[in-house]
Amino acid sequence: MKIRTVFAGLVAATFSAIAMAQAPIVIKFSHVVAVDTPKGKASEFFAKKAAELTKGKVKVEVYANSSLYKDKEEMEALQLGAVQMLAPSLAKFGPLGVKEFEAFDLPYIFDNTAELHKITQGPVGASLLAKLEPKGIKGLAFWDNGFKSFSANKPLKSPADFKGLKMRIQSSKVLESQMRSLGALPQVMAFSEVYQALQTGVVDGTENPHSNLYTQKMHEVQKHMTLTEHGYLGYAVITNKKFWDGLPGDVRGQLEQAMKEATVFANSIAKEENDGALEKIKASGKTQVYSPTAAERTAIKKALVKTHTDMESRIGKETIQAIYKETGFDPAKL
Ligand code: LMR
Repeated sequence: MKIRTVFAGLVAATFSAIAMAQAPIVIKFSHVVAVDTPKGKASEFFAKKAAELTKGKVKVEVYANSSLYKDKEEMEALQLGAVQMLAPSLAKFGPLGVKEFEAFDLPYIFDNTAELHKITQGPVGASLLAKLEPKGIKGLAFWDNGFKSFSANKPLKSPADFKGLKMRIQSSKVLESQMRSLGALPQVMAFSEVYQALQTGVVDGTENPHSNLYTQKMHEVQKHMTLTEHGYLGYAVITNKKFWDGLPGDVRGQLEQAMKEATVFANSIAKEENDGALEKIKASGKTQVYSPTAAERTAIKKALVKTHTDMESRIGKETIQAIYKETGFDPAKL
């Protein structure tokens, strides 16, 4: 009887050891946007690729739409190891103490995606990601979203139209300065709270690429939108460094490959997703979409370019100059 009990115990222990040895490594990937957006689709793509390339050794669980954490909490959760992966917008790294990322928020710093990719896919981008390491964070990739439009319940055609408007921004001092240079009152707010804040009038307006505006239904509570393309919004995919460094080498290599492929995918769909969202916003008839004239565009640019000098000491002259050098941007020419 005794021998039988010992034997049964041994069998149970062996089975649970095998089960444990085969239990997948779980990566919780939290983000704040809808599934039907460039980031939403790219994170699902990464999850599928990771399962495929690791042959099931890794299971990536994607939590979209702030279902696990909101903006600020998700950064803390990553550092504490409660989640393993995030893709916050580049405008959200200031509170972490990595102010250089706010260079991406400078108005009109990129004329197009090709210029942006000189940074995100080149040495400047790599050196920016390296700045995360002392914070216990490993930067894996940059993912595109797109260029932003302004929205409000009144037409926004000239800088004077922004005066006194409460405009929701992400937690970036550059965006704060941008709104102030238009005479608006910036209000930092988590992405998950913006729709309601617009609906109830807590804020008057906002800015985002069209895929975000559309999937959060912000256009349903904003009467006007102006296609200013005044700034860029994109992401850094990040992981907890200790977690990443602790992965078996072969698994880490397979995940790096999955991330490479997910990045190509993200960047190939971003423009299409935003163009499609703009068409749907127009078709909804809920927002009047305005394309500024050349003269109106110039007036808005002239009002906003001051942000570059105002924010130089915060971001660091070196980072700003490195970007100008790669892209050929010259604020004096605006
Ligand atoms: C926002 O907060 O406006 C965006 O950064 C959300 C996102 O992740 O695209």
